[in-house]
Amino acid sequence: MNNQQTRPPVISVNNLKVHFPIRKGVFSNIQGCVKAVDDISFSVNKGEMFALVGESGCGKTTTAQTILGLTPKTSGTIDLAIGPWNQTPVNWNDLDKKGKKELRKHLQVVFQDPYSSLDPRMTIESILEEPLVIHDYAKKERSDRIGQMLSKVGLSSEYLHRFPHEFSGGQRQRIGIARAFITEPEVVIADEPVSALDVSIQAQIINLLQDLQKDFNLTMIFISHDLAVVRHLANRLGVMYMGKIVESGTEEQIFNSPLHPYTRLLLESIPLPGKGRSSKGQGLQDEQNSSLSAAKGCTYYPRCPKRTERCLESYPDLKDAGESHLVSCFNC
Ligand SMILES: Nc1ncnc2c1ncn2[C@@H]1O[C@H](COP(=O)(O)OP(=O)(O)OP(=O)(O)O)[C@@H](O)[C@H]1O
Ligand SMILES: [Mg+2]
Repeated sequence: MNNQQTRPPVISVNNLKVHFPIRKGVFSNIQGCVKAVDDISFSVNKGEMFALVGESGCGKTTTAQTILGLTPKTSGTIDLAIGPWNQTPVNWNDLDKKGKKELRKHLQVVFQDPYSSLDPRMTIESILEEPLVIHDYAKKERSDRIGQMLSKVGLSSEYLHRFPHEFSGGQRQRIGIARAFITEPEVVIADEPVSALDVSIQAQIINLLQDLQKDFNLTMIFISHDLAVVRHLANRLGVMYMGKIVESGTEEQIFNSPLHPYTRLLLESIPLPGKGRSSKGQGLQDEQNSSLSAAKGCTYYPRCPKRTERCLESYPDLKDAGESHLVSCFNC
């Protein structure tokens, strides 16, 4: 794990903000904004599996979409040391159309919903061939790669002429994974790749992603709302709450010595074998008490068992609690 920390960063996110305007009234005047991502910084090193975790609406997908160049950022920087730019990192704004196409070949995504992410009118062969056509692979290489990729994800080549509706959810996610990996990208972002699947299928898909990551020596961002899913999978984790990263560290630091009360709450919400969900973890479902919300202070203040007057004054910067274990809390 420490080995991974010394490798060069492939993705460096610095002070990223993504704010969406809220428009109201007949003239759609801007009335405020949703701070989906609010000043986050993290980096992902080569060959590393980095997990971004947090409850629904905390900004995980927006972060991923911005790294993928699909959502514009409000401010901050995202430097990508990928493909031809591995020595001189680029960001999306530096690139022309051709450059963006080249970067996309090396930076792929697996979506959450295997039902809607595959075009129902296309056969599996054409779904897998499409990225290879876009990136100008010759016919022979296209069919070779499709055959190899199908076998890597555990699907038979007999399925090539079938349509997505003829497959189960798990099989469809295998097709989505094959499509993401077929151009041999250096980085894959998997946005909740198992949350739409049955529990029994989840483990198979997680194992598949883990095997592929090792085979391809891939850098990966794995997004999940469930800490249990990323346990033993991620090398490092970032815990998000309301657009901010509140804690980041290695798998060992986060699972064995969590510091932020929100990370502790997420861990307490993991069901224990034979015991169900810990009662303390039920706080995760608590409604936020808006009367307690701190306008300029810590966004976790209303739910925090450690809150003090100081937390109302300003938002706590991430501080290093030792060995790059970062936490944003005055009282942790
Ligand atoms: N295009 C958009 N316009 C306005 N608000 C948006 C837009 N996209 C996301 N948001 C808001 O930004 C916040 C973060 O959304 P996001 O989808 O990134 O969360 P998430 O952590 O991925 O949640 P989930 O676990 O439910 O997928 C939410 O409040 C969401 O409503
Ligand atoms: Mg999401």
